[in-house]
Amino acid sequence: MDVTSLLAALIVTGPQAVTFANAIKPIIDRKCVSCHVSGGLAPFPLQTYAQVAKRANLCLRMMLIRSMPPHYATPGEGEFVPGGGPISDEEGVQLQRWVQDGAPEGEPTTPIETVPIKSWRLGPPDAVLTLPKFADVPEEGRPYWQATVIPLGSYSGRKLRGFDIVVDQPKVLRSAVVAVARPGLLGTKRAREGFQTGGSLDLDAKTYLGSWAPGYPAWELPKGVSMTLSGDAIVVQFLVIPRGKAESGEFKIGLYFSHGMSDTEGLWTTLSEEEFAIPAPGSLVLSPKGQLPPASQVIAVYPEARFFCTSVRLWSGDKELFATRKWEPYWQGVYRYSNPLAFPEGAGLRSEFNFDNDIHMGRNEGRRPRPIMAGYRERDELCRIHVLYSRTR
Ligand code: HEC
Repeated sequence: MDVTSLLAALIVTGPQAVTFANAIKPIIDRKCVSCHVSGGLAPFPLQTYAQVAKRANLCLRMMLIRSMPPHYATPGEGEFVPGGGPISDEEGVQLQRWVQDGAPEGEPTTPIETVPIKSWRLGPPDAVLTLPKFADVPEEGRPYWQATVIPLGSYSGRKLRGFDIVVDQPKVLRSAVVAVARPGLLGTKRAREGFQTGGSLDLDAKTYLGSWAPGYPAWELPKGVSMTLSGDAIVVQFLVIPRGKAESGEFKIGLYFSHGMSDTEGLWTTLSEEEFAIPAPGSLVLSPKGQLPPASQVIAVYPEARFFCTSVRLWSGDKELFATRKWEPYWQGVYRYSNPLAFPEGAGLRSEFNFDNDIHMGRNEGRRPRPIMAGYRERDELCRIHVLYSRTR
């Protein structure tokens, strides 16, 4: 930029002006572009100045109501993968100033580049399992959960350190939870044909492995930790979103094995309440508790609830590990910490689930509420939080 245009820019915007170049592009780059990329899962890309400026107001609104990922939850004193945390107040203020000033670009900017979405992000996998055709997605209807069983063959017994999923239709297959299948599932008609679930794999999973969503980093365990594939198959549950036209999809799952002899095993403990009823109309607070063995570190948490849940929180002692700002039943997954959290000995795990069965809640939508029972169907509720940990000595 020459001196005259620099001066002109200063006069127009002032020295402290918030521009796309100096403030907004880095935020979009860190927090939005992983999904808002051309060919990605979000409805439009946010890679160039023009694409963002055109929707500046809408972006501001989404950020202020904190209605966009990376996460609906906060990680207490840790940080979730992907890092960067939720939208901060400061970022919200910057975007607001930028919009008020007419969304200036500042210095000319180049488009934000990202890793191609259909590539293996942890490098070439040790094994690739392919499903030829995923499902016939109907034109219309509510989102639903579809599970697929994939034989492990000779990979049974290997130690998994990570996985990634590549789909050809990221807008349709919105997120996935991956688990080792329970004994006996492989070989059933259900397993051959695939089946729908009420949003939880608990009945068909032996051990959860992790989760995936387009726009999120691949699943990876901390260094020195792996999980044994102790079964004959894995089961993958996808959230499927019909988009107004009949579609089918294909996906591949890439497995990464550990060769470390001294790995420690990733283990789960589950805090849950299995018998409860939410009165109609009414609300309910449940506080399942748990414990971890001495010398443990927390790697990830996987909360499970449905349409009548308003918030989920988890503490160890008085340290918060996880809190939702709003419970979003269609935004499920395993929340993984960038660095495992040391677990204070004897601290104990304590959770709190809030449920609301009011006339305006969840599936009621103005209808007369009915009592909601604990259970596996989509119309039931769940109160469960799985905690992935490993021993540190
Ligand atoms: C993990 C993926 C993901 C990330 C990260 C993400 N978005 Fe989105 N965004 C979506 C999806 C998917 C939609 C479509 C709406 C839906 O299906 O929920 C969307 C929709 C939108 C919309 C349109 C909303 C409407 O009412 O039409 C805006 C604006 C938006 N996102 C802005 C942002 C901004 C700004 C960021 C970063 C702070 C961001 N998004 C981060 C996935 C994402």
